[in-house]
Amino acid sequence: MAARREMVLNAFTMNCVGHINHGLWTHPRDRSADYTSLDHWTALARTLERGLFDAAFIADVSGVYDVYGGGIGVTAREAVQLPVNEPTLLVPAMAAVTRHLGFGVTVNIAGEHPYTFARRMATLDHLTGGRVGWNIVTGYLDSAARAVGRDGLDGHDTRYDRADDCLDLLYKLWEDSWDDDAVRRDRTARVYADPAKIRAIHHEGPFFRSAGVALSAPSPQRTPVLFQAGSSGRGQLFAARHAECVFISAPDRAAARRAARGLREAAAAAGRDPSGLKVIMGLTVVAGETASAARDRLADYVRHASPEAGLAHFGAGSGIDLAPYGLDEPISTAPSNAIRSTTEAAQRRGATKRQLLAELALGGRYPLAVGTGAEVAAEMEGWMDEGEVDGFNLTRTVEPECWEDFVALVVPALQERGIHKTSYREGTFRRKLFGRGDRLPAGHAGRRSGA
Ligand SMILES: Cc1cc2nc3c(=O)[nH]c(=O)nc-3n(C[C@H](O)[C@H](O)[C@H](O)COP(=O)(O)O)c2cc1C
Repeated sequence: MAARREMVLNAFTMNCVGHINHGLWTHPRDRSADYTSLDHWTALARTLERGLFDAAFIADVSGVYDVYGGGIGVTAREAVQLPVNEPTLLVPAMAAVTRHLGFGVTVNIAGEHPYTFARRMATLDHLTGGRVGWNIVTGYLDSAARAVGRDGLDGHDTRYDRADDCLDLLYKLWEDSWDDDAVRRDRTARVYADPAKIRAIHHEGPFFRSAGVALSAPSPQRTPVLFQAGSSGRGQLFAARHAECVFISAPDRAAARRAARGLREAAAAAGRDPSGLKVIMGLTVVAGETASAARDRLADYVRHASPEAGLAHFGAGSGIDLAPYGLDEPISTAPSNAIRSTTEAAQRRGATKRQLLAELALGGRYPLAVGTGAEVAAEMEGWMDEGEVDGFNLTRTVEPECWEDFVALVVPALQERGIHKTSYREGTFRRKLFGRGDRLPAGHAGRRSGA
């Protein structure tokens, strides 16, 4: 049999209690409320590396979900991404107990100036030996903008324009300021770094200005592996230019295929090799020793889930307050300034609150795969073959058992099908993912920046 392509496998998590599948913190075996302890994260890192996961993908928001019911009532009671701690600080601890696991860390570009952010990511890339990725987010919460003294979010497309400018500046800092051989560490000559091989960058963009030398010496990957999740037209244009991994959420295989093809075509139109772009979908898995054990486990989880907390999450993502809606009332078609693709998808299928609550039975909005390891593996292969995705971000349910179950039951079945690795490749996160070099590939916007 011909060798099958191996999937990209990420664990989707967040430095908080309730991430995607809300309400499960009430399950007696759930330990997500231990998120403030380092042991919680180092144990997760070890489990993921045992299962040969490519990365822990750490989501983040920098505001609160205060759209549903016009406040944070449900959000606080159900810990819907509140409280939420800072994501990048988890990485060194998780890296210290692993050798291969990568990290996809979400950082909102609105949070700080690209000059200081470039150093933070370069530091992580150094400390992890080149195992860092960045999930580029532009923000969708008015609450986040108000919290740092602004009147509200910029317009949807302006946020992407700002992100383009931010990336152009970051590429100069990461790629152009220091030559590869700038650091000499030559004791005899008393030259640690050669000033002739270090230059100031100059950036005068529509949103950011910077003149200066990058603070960090080149890290193994220089630019971290770039993840992005925009699905709107403008979001896809941004992904086509910058993203190496694009995260999509698709309700069925046809929708996944459309999104994956659209992204690859957009990357080709932007002059890139489409095979340099991995499309990764969100998926929730509930596995059991037998099919009926898996169904029982799902039913047990659903009893602890909070679909209303899911609505509070959805409300913030879509910008629509669903609290006042009747169960069967059609949801507003007014355009929103939040996640455009979420609103458009809900409007296209004429979703009602009753339908959303049913979809949110386990609190989340990702497709669900339930069954034995072999059944789940077959379903994942189907998403790859028919949905044309390259891999998965698995949402957490009751943790840590969801990760332990996946590693024990599903990973061997995936390996049997030849769609999951049996050992890690050596090298950086980028080399492991693409089987090529450590640095951004030729043809990528970041390689053409020019200081
Ligand atoms: C599956 C998925 C995961 C996302 N994760 C985050 C996240 O962790 N933090 C965040 O601020 N935005 C997150 N977003 C929002 C995106 O970064 C982006 O703002 C949004 O998808 C914009 O969408 P649009 O281009 O469709 O309007 C996520 C979006 C999707 C679809």
